[in-house]
Amino acid sequence: MDFTGQHIAVTGASSGIGLVTAKLLASRGANISLLARRKDRLDEVAGEIGDRAAGFVADVGDKAELEHALDQAASRFGPVTGLFANAGLTGGFTPAVEFPADVFEQTIRVNLTSVFWAIQKVLPSMIEAKKGAILVTGSMASKRGMAMNPAYVASKHGVLGLTRAIAVEMAPQGIRANCIIPGFIRTEALDRIPPDQQGKIEQRIPMRHMGTPEELAEVAAFLLSDAASHVTGQDWAVDGGVLETLEV
Ligand SMILES: NC(=O)c1ccc[n+]([C@@H]2O[C@H](COP(=O)([O-])OP(=O)(O)OC[C@H]3O[C@@H](n4cnc5c(N)ncnc54)[C@H](OP(=O)(O)O)[C@@H]3O)[C@@H](O)[C@H]2O)c1
Repeated sequence: MDFTGQHIAVTGASSGIGLVTAKLLASRGANISLLARRKDRLDEVAGEIGDRAAGFVADVGDKAELEHALDQAASRFGPVTGLFANAGLTGGFTPAVEFPADVFEQTIRVNLTSVFWAIQKVLPSMIEAKKGAILVTGSMASKRGMAMNPAYVASKHGVLGLTRAIAVEMAPQGIRANCIIPGFIRTEALDRIPPDQQGKIEQRIPMRHMGTPEELAEVAAFLLSDAASHVTGQDWAVDGGVLETLEV
C-alpha cells in the first residue's frame, strides 16, 4: 500500500484510532491533514510525523469550522484524495425516556451530520479527478441496538446508511465509500471504562482481548488504498469476532 502523492484528511486525529491511522498512512507516503479540536495534540502529532502532516483545528460539529479546516488542508497539500471521517463522541448513557434533547441533537450533528458535510466538501475535487476513497468510522452500534444511548446508536446506524448511499451514487465516478466498524479498541474512549468492566467485556470477545488502534489502522489503510479498488459500500468489522457471536 503506497500512498505517495495522496492527500488524506483524517478527522479525530488528535487521539486513538484517528491518530494511529494518520501515522500509518503517513509512514506509507501520504500527506496527512489532521483535524480535531485540541490544537496542542494536533501540533504534537504533526510534529512527530514531520513535513507531510499538518494540523487544522476544527469542531466538526460546526459546519463553517469544518469547511474552513478542509479549505486550509487543500491549500496546503492540494485536493483531498482520501477522507477518513472518524471523529465521534459516545454521548451519555441515559434511559430513552429521559434522554436530553440537546445531547441527542449534538450527537447526531457530530457523529453523522458532520460526516455528510465533510463528504460534500471533498466530493467535487474527487469527482473532477474521477477517483477518491472515503472511509467512515461506524461502530457495532451501526449494526446492533444498544440500551441507554439512542442518539449514539441512531448516529452510527446513520453513518453506515450514508456510506452506502454515497457508495452507490459515486461508484460510476470512481469514488469508493466504506465504513469501518471498531469492536472494542483500546483508546482513550475505552480507558474511561472501569477496569472490572473492561475485564467483563474481554470475556465476551471471542478472541478474549480488546483490539489495538494499530490493528484497526491496518484495515483502515487497506480500505483507503488502491489495494481495495473494487471494494465499496461495505462495512468491515475489526472486532475480534464480537458481531458474529451468538450469546444464548
Ligand atoms: N475505541 C472503540 O472501541 C470504538 C468503538 C466503536 C466506535 N468507535 C469510534 O471510533 C472513532 C474514534 O474514537 P476513538 O476510540 O479513537 O476515541 P478517542 O481516542 O476519544 O478519539 C476521538 C477523536 O474524535 C475527536 N473529536 C471528538 N469530538 C470532536 C468534534 N466535535 N470535533 C472534532 N473532533 C472531535 C477527538 O479530538 P478532540 O477531542 O481533540 O476534538 C479525538 O481525536 C469514533 O467515531 C468512535 O465512535 C470507537
